[in-house]
Amino acid sequence: MFKELLKPFAAEQITDFWAKELGLTWTWHKPIARIVKRQIEAKDTVNLWLKPNRRFLGFNAGQHINLTVQVNGVYLTRSYSLSHAPQKNGLLRITIKQEAQGKVSQYLTQQAQVGDTFEISQAFGDFSLNTKNPNLLLAAGSGITPLMSLLHTATSQTTLLYWAKTRAELSFVAELKQLKKANPLITVHYFLTQEKELLSHEHHGRISEEILTKFVPDLANCHVLACGNSGFVEQVKTLTSQASSLQVEAFTPLIPQTTDSTETVQVYLSKSQKTLSLPQGQSLLNALEEQGVYPPSGCRMGICHSCSCQKQSGTTQDLQNGDINQEPNNAVRLCVSRAQSDLVLDI
Ligand code: FES
Repeated sequence: MFKELLKPFAAEQITDFWAKELGLTWTWHKPIARIVKRQIEAKDTVNLWLKPNRRFLGFNAGQHINLTVQVNGVYLTRSYSLSHAPQKNGLLRITIKQEAQGKVSQYLTQQAQVGDTFEISQAFGDFSLNTKNPNLLLAAGSGITPLMSLLHTATSQTTLLYWAKTRAELSFVAELKQLKKANPLITVHYFLTQEKELLSHEHHGRISEEILTKFVPDLANCHVLACGNSGFVEQVKTLTSQASSLQVEAFTPLIPQTTDSTETVQVYLSKSQKTLSLPQGQSLLNALEEQGVYPPSGCRMGICHSCSCQKQSGTTQDLQNGDINQEPNNAVRLCVSRAQSDLVLDI
C-alpha cells in the first residue's frame, strides 16, 4: 500500500530508504531480513532467526549470506553461515560468536533486537554433502555453523568431529543429540582442548593423525568438509590427503605469504582517478582500507566475491594458492590477492 502510494512520486532508492526506516521488509530490488527470534546458543554465542523478504531467492544447506549493518553511522558488511537447513517457514538462522575485533558480530550479539531489519545478500558458497558415500565433517569453534546446516540434510553415513576449547563453548549440543536420535546415519564426537574433567562422551586433543585413524577408519572413502580458523584448515588439508575428496572453508583470514613489507607498488584506481602507493606484503583489500579506500567486501576469505573488481593491468598473486595472475582485464578478489607489480584497478 505504502509502496503503491509512493511509486508515482518517488525513486525506488527513496522508497527503499523509507521502508527500511519504518522497519518494513519490502523493497524493489534488495533482499532485506527482519530478526524474529533471538536465542543464547552457547557461551558468547547467539542465534538470530531472520525472516527475509521476497527478494531473497533461497539457499542450500552449507551456504552463507552477507549481512550489512550500520554501526556508529558506518555501513559494515560481514558474512555468516546459515546454521540450519532450509525450512518450510522460510526462516534463516545465523549463529554469531561475539568477537573482540568484529564490530558487526559485537553489534549483532549485544545490540540487535527482535524487529530490527538488515540488508542481506543472496546466498553463496558450495559446501555440500555426498549423498551416497560417507561424509566426514571437521569443525573447529564457529566452524560448526555451515556443517550444522548440512547435518540436517544427511542421507549417507556422516561423522562429525567437533573441537572447542571448553564444554561451555560447544554450540548445538541438544540439537545434535536430537539429530543423532532421528537419523542413525549421524555420528558425533566432541573434542575439548582446555577442559580438565571430561564427560564420558568427550575427548581431549587437537586434530591429529592418531585421532583421525581412531575415529575415522574409512577416511580414504570419505568426502571431507572442514571449517574453522585458517590454522585448523591447513592441518586438515595435510592430514586428509588420502580422503576421496575435500572441501574447506577458513573463517579467519589466511596468513599472507609476505614479501619484504617495505616494498611498495603504484596502484592506479581508474574510476576514482587516484594513485596510491601500496605495500606488496598484504592483501589489496587491507592495503586499500589502510589508505582510506573501502571497496565493497563481505567474507574477507575469498568466498563471496563481494570485493571482486577488474584488474586492468599488472600482476597479482592469489594468497590462497600462490597462483600468479598476469592477464589484463581479469577479475581479482581483493581480499585474497596481493600486488606483485604496479596495477590498474577498476575502482
Ligand atoms: S570479501 Fe568475500 S571474496 Fe573478498
